[in-house]
Amino acid sequence: MTLAPPRRFFVETWGCQMNELDSQRLSSQLMQQGVLPTRDPQEADLILLNSCSVREKAAQKAYSRLGEYRVMKRHRPELLLGFCGCVAQQEGDRALERLPDLDFVIGPARVGEVGQVLQRRLSGRRVVATGFPDAAERNYDLDLLSREGTYKGMVTIIEGCNKKCTFCIVPSTRGPEQNRPMEHILAEVRHLLDFGFREIELLGQTVNHWRDPSTAADFAVLLDRVARIDGLERLRFVTSYPRDFTQDMVDQLGRHANICPYLHLPVQSGSDRILRLMGRGYDIELYRDLIGRLRTSRPGIALSTDIIVGFPGETDEDFEATLELISEVRFASIFAFKYSSRPGTAAPRLKVPIVEMGVADRRLQRLFALQKGIQLEINQTLVGETFDILVTSWGKQPGSQTGRTPCHRLLHFDFGEQAAELGSMTRVVVEKAFPHSLVGSRVAA
Ligand code: 5AD
Repeated sequence: MTLAPPRRFFVETWGCQMNELDSQRLSSQLMQQGVLPTRDPQEADLILLNSCSVREKAAQKAYSRLGEYRVMKRHRPELLLGFCGCVAQQEGDRALERLPDLDFVIGPARVGEVGQVLQRRLSGRRVVATGFPDAAERNYDLDLLSREGTYKGMVTIIEGCNKKCTFCIVPSTRGPEQNRPMEHILAEVRHLLDFGFREIELLGQTVNHWRDPSTAADFAVLLDRVARIDGLERLRFVTSYPRDFTQDMVDQLGRHANICPYLHLPVQSGSDRILRLMGRGYDIELYRDLIGRLRTSRPGIALSTDIIVGFPGETDEDFEATLELISEVRFASIFAFKYSSRPGTAAPRLKVPIVEMGVADRRLQRLFALQKGIQLEINQTLVGETFDILVTSWGKQPGSQTGRTPCHRLLHFDFGEQAAELGSMTRVVVEKAFPHSLVGSRVAA
């Protein structure tokens, strides 16, 4: 049976920035084949679900969303359904067995093949493209990157992860580390700047573990090279691994004004005992010392982190140590999660007592309450300050727009007489502070 080629596609994306970029790559390749994007799944004859498996809830959601799309397919048998992302990688053939009307499965390392996969499907067979080919065999065409949003260009520098954190499923869904060559990265950044982007975000699961595959250059060298490129106003990178953050990298943050004074540095727990059980390879002393050096190098730097509460073996005392760390460091924001057991990871086999759900829930609430107060206090100190804002969207209120400060805080502002162009820079004075955002007004440049 041959199927009709689709005319319109819809992509739904869950998870991290890597997945966001993968969705952009999927989209651009389809557009190259003449399939156009739509924001309405009802209008699409090809739907891609780009899934996340980092926590169980997200993974379950993938199958329930696919279930909803399958209902649509019952009424429209020509609808093609593709399962992508980290759950797709884990499930592979099993997904085709479970869902008889699923058309294809594409893992994160095979995103560059969506065109061929679709062609193969159209000429008859259902397709599974998973696993981890070498970087050299992966199709990564710069001209095939559609860039959604007019302000932030994302550039992958390292894919996969070689760490063995006992809670984390990423090494098995995104495979071992693969570094992109420095020259490719620099070329892509220049390409994006030529295209009009102001901000570049370098991406990697352990972004600061990047090494040029053929020279000794490390992430500090790369930061320096990228920051020196003409026309680059804002450089960010995510996610850094604490133990891999060298003094040379710390120094680069102090050296280049266009490297944003913002760093996401997941600590996961404030207890050395839990960090050991997690297999993180550092202790709180190392983390604390690193924060001190970052703040010396770049005064005022905004820091954010990830915390897991209720990791197996976590006692009240361990959790108190996390609260202490949060009070001490005063992060600009925190992403906190209840521990979720993931298939194939080592944590479920640890010989320690598991933490009851109710206990983990209460710990999470306490953590959020503490952090909310800290964020409000920090944000209140910014009232009266003026920032260069990268304008990212229209606000909810008429006459308002939204943007980001250099330290990545969300700022809603009155634009005055005339709106600023989306993707441009404008000056805004902060007038009010909330825990999760700032409010202000545009001022003359
Ligand atoms: N359970 C809960 N949170 C997790 N994370 C990763 N794996 C798990 C898990 N099994 C969190 C970590 C990581 C962030 C992206 O997701 O905090 O930094």
